[in-house]
Amino acid sequence: MFPTPSLIHFTRDDYSRIYEPDADSFLLLDALESKFKKIQERNPFIILEFGSGSGIATTFVAKHFCQSPSLFFAIDMNPHACYSTKRTFQHNHVDDKQCLNLVQCNLADPLIDRLTSKVDLLLFNPPYVPTETADVEEMIDRTFAGGEQGIEVIQRSIEQASRLLSPKGLFYMVALEENDFDMLSEFSDQYGLSAEIVLKRRTLIERLLIDIYCTELTMPKSKERLEDSDSEESKSSNNDNKSTSDEEPSKKSKGKKSNGENEPPAKRTKPNEEDTTVPSTTGPNGERLYEIGKLRFVSVSQFRGKPYINIREYYDDNGIRKPGRKGISLAGDQWEKFKELFDQIDNELKASK
Ligand SMILES: C[S@@+](CC[C@H](N)C(=O)[O-])C[C@H]1O[C@@H](n2cnc3c(N)ncnc32)[C@H](O)[C@@H]1O
Repeated sequence: MFPTPSLIHFTRDDYSRIYEPDADSFLLLDALESKFKKIQERNPFIILEFGSGSGIATTFVAKHFCQSPSLFFAIDMNPHACYSTKRTFQHNHVDDKQCLNLVQCNLADPLIDRLTSKVDLLLFNPPYVPTETADVEEMIDRTFAGGEQGIEVIQRSIEQASRLLSPKGLFYMVALEENDFDMLSEFSDQYGLSAEIVLKRRTLIERLLIDIYCTELTMPKSKERLEDSDSEESKSSNNDNKSTSDEEPSKKSKGKKSNGENEPPAKRTKPNEEDTTVPSTTGPNGERLYEIGKLRFVSVSQFRGKPYINIREYYDDNGIRKPGRKGISLAGDQWEKFKELFDQIDNELKASK
């Protein structure tokens, strides 16, 4: 087992300002270690951690996973955490081999455009506790406040990961059982990422017995291929009026965030004069969106070669229409069963009027 980075330079006073590494921090280290071979084979050059806190995970990776000099970005909203990460990096003597950039900001907001498709390894032990809001005043409360269902920050990190990860990129993130893995997996899928639990543990945190797990999020193979020819393909996909091909996964217009002023939030597909199909708009992953109500759409997406029918509520994020949590994705066979029920449900509806 790789040794945990030394943290003896911190005092109780430090831990009143930053997150004191706990069972979730150690779960992340163990998950990383369990994937050591896979990570090393990919020879990560750019490594980014959201919410680095004490710097335990960033330093762990710098010390054990990088044979050659790499570029680390340790991000935290809390200035004390940024400073603490630097101290841990130095205290463990990795600063002479590895380059550390400390950025005090909200997730990777100011870096997204520069780091699009460049991050090889992404880490996050997020604030995952369900709270009224994740937007809390006290910095120290940001260590745990995850907002509704504990997933507000998690979901934003997944959105950002889908843009930041390089084709070979890996994202390791801790979550709580209540954060609902199936739902997070479905959400990740909407952003072109596939999620898998790599380590699960029942543990005590602050005298509470909780179930936590670490997920690995990756670009599916087909997406890796798409990344190689990203620019040309995504340019044409915006104007493409043909149905999405069966082999093609849903595409996302990476790094092309609209400013919301000159462009409509989602581009309308080019109208075809002879076309009698129902009008649709294009969603953030290149999928066709058929509107059935205010911000409610039906779409078809592909995941691992299988089609899914999505009925989902979208929301507006700075001029970009994005899929929200509310909704359902039906596999092909469920859709067939659903269709068989149409007449019966319709009759019931008429009878109830
Ligand atoms: C649970 S702590 C984890 C700290 C450390 N990585 C560990 O595993 O011990 C979560 C960290 O994320 C930071 N954080 C929370 N929301 C953030 C956001 N939106 N952007 C950047 N950092 C954030 C907090 O300040 C805190 O340091």
